[in-house]
Amino acid sequence: MHMRRKPWARPELAACGYYREEPAQLRGRWGDEFARRQPLQVELGCGKGVSTARMARDNPGVNFVAVDVGRDVLGCARRNAQAAYGDAPVDNLILAALNVEQIGQYFAAQDAVERIHISFCNPWTLKKRHEKRRLTHPRQLWQYRSFLMDGGELHFKTDDDALFDDTLGYLSSCGFEVRYLTRDLHRSGYAPNYESEHELKYAAQGVPVKFLIAVKRPDALLPAGRLVRVAAAVIENARGEVLLCRRGPGGECAGRWEFPGGKLEPGEGAAACARREVLEELGARIRPVQELGETVYAYPSRTVSLTFVRAALEEGGPLELREHAQAAWVRPRALTGYALCPADVQMARALAARDAP
Ligand SMILES: C[S@@+](CC[C@H](N)C(=O)[O-])C[C@H]1O[C@@H](n2cnc3c(N)ncnc32)[C@H](O)[C@@H]1O
Repeated sequence: MHMRRKPWARPELAACGYYREEPAQLRGRWGDEFARRQPLQVELGCGKGVSTARMARDNPGVNFVAVDVGRDVLGCARRNAQAAYGDAPVDNLILAALNVEQIGQYFAAQDAVERIHISFCNPWTLKKRHEKRRLTHPRQLWQYRSFLMDGGELHFKTDDDALFDDTLGYLSSCGFEVRYLTRDLHRSGYAPNYESEHELKYAAQGVPVKFLIAVKRPDALLPAGRLVRVAAAVIENARGEVLLCRRGPGGECAGRWEFPGGKLEPGEGAAACARREVLEELGARIRPVQELGETVYAYPSRTVSLTFVRAALEEGGPLELREHAQAAWVRPRALTGYALCPADVQMARALAARDAP
C-alpha cells in the first residue's frame, strides 16, 4: 500500500489554512480552532480523505478533524477537500499529521469528541505481535475512551473478516457496546454512507464491507479494577532537566526508572494527584503546569491509563527518597538511555525528540 511520493504535498499543506502539522499544543482546545463551536468528530487514518471531504461538506453543523501519519496522503486529502467545497470556505474541517498510536497526546476529555471514524485501517494479520498496531486494538481503544464522550460512537469499516471479528472482542473488553453491525454494508440499506477510497476499491471487486457502530459505556460501568488511572509528574528543574526515579527491588518493574506519580483517588484530577504523590513519595512540592497527554498500557491483569503532568519544582531542598531507590536529573534527550518502566517509554521518547541537539 506504498504510495508514490508527492513533492507538491508538503508545500501545499504548509500553505493550507486548515492543516496542522504535529498539533500536540491543540490538545484540550480543538474547539477554538474552528469557526463555530459545535460537535466534534475525528477520523483516524483518513488516507486521501475521499469520504472525509464529502462527509464534512455535507454536515456543516459538525466540526471534523481528519488525521493521518502520511503527509503525501494528507496532501491528497487537502486537494479532495478543496474539490468538494469548491468556492465555499473549508471552516469545519482540519487535517492533522499525527500518529494515532500516540493519540492521547493530541486529544483530551475537554475536546468531548462525539464520534470517531476508522475506515479500512491496516489489518496487521501476518504476525501476532503486530496486532497491537491495529487502530482498533485495546491499546488504542483505551486511549480513545479518554477523549470520547460517554455515549460517543466509534464507526468502523473494514473488508477484513479477521480484523472485524477480533475488533468485536476488543470492543467488549474495553467498555464499548456494539449497537449496529452489518457484514455487507452496501446491501444493508444503511444511510448516509460516505464511501472511502478503499471502500470503493473493495466494493468494485465485490468484497463485502463490514461495518459497525459501537457506543462508549461510561467508566463507572466498567468491571471493577479493569482500568487503573494513574498520574505521573514530568518535573523540570531550572536547567531544563527532568526528574527520573528508580524503583527498588521486588514488585512490578523492580529496578526500572519512572516519572514519579501514582493512582488517582476518587474524584481527583491528574494534576492534583501528581502534586500529592510527589509530596508523599519525595517530600517535594511541585507546581503543575500542563497536562502533556495520556498513555495507555495493557498489563495482563489490568490496563493502566497514565496521564503525564508537566510540573515545576517549587522548593529546591533535597529530595527524600521515601519509596524509590534512586533519583536522577536527566537531560530530556538522554531519557531513552535509561531502563524505563514500559508505560513511561512513549513519553520519554516524545520529550527526547523535542530536545534534539
Ligand atoms: C488502508 S488506508 C485507509 C485510508 C482511508 N481511511 C480509506 O478507507 O480509504 C490506511 C491509512 O491509515 C494510515 N495510518 C496507518 N497507521 C496509522 C497511524 N498509526 N497513525 C495515523 N495514520 C495511520 C495510513 O497512512 C493510511 O493512510
